[in-house]
Amino acid sequence: MRDIIQKKSLTCLGSDNPYLNGAWEPCDTEWTASTPALKVLAGEIPRDLHGVYMRNGHNQVHAPIGKYHPFDGDGMVHAACFENGQMTYRNRWTRTTGYLAEQAAGESLWPGIIEPRKAVRRGWGSIGAMKDNAGTDIIVHAGRAIVAMSQCSEPYRLDPITLDTLGPDPSWARALGDRGICSHFQIDEHTGEMMFFNYGEKVPYLNYGVVNARNELVHYEPIELPGARWPHDMGMTQNYCILHDLPMFFDQVALAKGQHRLKFHRDVPARFGIIPRRGRNQDVRWFEGQPCYILHLSNSYEQGDEVVMEGCIQTNPVPDVSVLPKDGYARMNALLDMHRQETRMHRWRFNLKTGQTREEDLDDEVTEFPMVNGRYKGRPNRYVYTAYMVEGFWLLDGLKKYDMQTGKTQSWRCPPGCYVSEAPFAPRIGAKDEDDGYVLTFMNDAAHRRAECAIFDAKHIDKGPVCRVELPGFIPLGAHAYWMPMSDLKGVAA
Ligand SMILES: [Fe+2]
Repeated sequence: MRDIIQKKSLTCLGSDNPYLNGAWEPCDTEWTASTPALKVLAGEIPRDLHGVYMRNGHNQVHAPIGKYHPFDGDGMVHAACFENGQMTYRNRWTRTTGYLAEQAAGESLWPGIIEPRKAVRRGWGSIGAMKDNAGTDIIVHAGRAIVAMSQCSEPYRLDPITLDTLGPDPSWARALGDRGICSHFQIDEHTGEMMFFNYGEKVPYLNYGVVNARNELVHYEPIELPGARWPHDMGMTQNYCILHDLPMFFDQVALAKGQHRLKFHRDVPARFGIIPRRGRNQDVRWFEGQPCYILHLSNSYEQGDEVVMEGCIQTNPVPDVSVLPKDGYARMNALLDMHRQETRMHRWRFNLKTGQTREEDLDDEVTEFPMVNGRYKGRPNRYVYTAYMVEGFWLLDGLKKYDMQTGKTQSWRCPPGCYVSEAPFAPRIGAKDEDDGYVLTFMNDAAHRRAECAIFDAKHIDKGPVCRVELPGFIPLGAHAYWMPMSDLKGVAA
């Protein structure tokens, strides 16, 4: 099977924006395609791989209003479903309210994150001006994929197999009003609970919530902060969540005038709020750390008196771009450059007895998009999988595996001109230990207009993919990814 479901004319193409070209050029077709019509380019599809690798991302349709940023585009999910040594690939735009309105209008109606002042109508997100692109995060909860954007938006549900948009979650999305949820929401695979947060420019600056395994909003709590913040991730352990109050936020004087000027406050400590899973604002215990920003955590867990949080720290999150020209894309590229941002794997230890924080770097190489075996989320884990970041550009050109017990690492670099996506771990059927399974990613090759799904043996990612399966067409780089074991759909109503 190799069916074109829908083909669109993309009016966003033809600009010189680097995030609408090359490895980032949006694709124009929705496909459903399976092996053997999709060629296995190398190796064999493992028969003990049973589930869906899904990756969200931004795939803009219309010419943007103002300067396009890679977090702006229409959300599109790509999924590779594995069963009995066969693979079926699907990709679908998420039909959000904003997407449907722009399709009906035949043009962009909302500007992106860089130029909210060009908005002529109320939008979504913490700034209140963007389209609800739902293109950042993806997880599966209560049998449905949930997608949302990094600036907060309504949580959209998708069928995790067909990727059909089922609309905002009917049982709890309305209770959150226009705040919605922010990437990154967390799943505890052992309890089936989903923990989330949202944020905004008015009090309450942060809300924290829990949706239980039956998809009921069972906890929703405003959290006091000193001002409007810009968190992107949160930690989760068996008993706590870790909320982020980081010193990269909008200049508050400018914000009062309606201007969004992101600033790193180098003299303000980072604050981490440890809240019991069903805790209230008054239960939060705040810990301080070195000034930093954090995009993505790998994992958090409890160890003795300590809550341990691991992930990618940025100690220069807003690089100085004053010498770069305002026109063109040099400033945007510099602000997105994870090398300039001093990004690296890091560990924080919050001692619940003493109230002290201890920190240590875990690496000096620049990697991001950390992933762990989902069954170990919130529990002590040994292995982390990250992606190498290209200097000067938001491109992922390799994978790295960390063994936190021995300190050993493994690395694999993409062939020249090829780039990968966030690469989650997928346990094999009957897995015996933490890294007994596969690491999956989509890899594209812009020069040859092709893309593939690459499957690695998680114990030996340095040996390269054990299997490569072609995709029916080129797909751009994306945002976040998730592995859903098919067993997670057992008992879920169709
Ligand atoms: Fe993210």
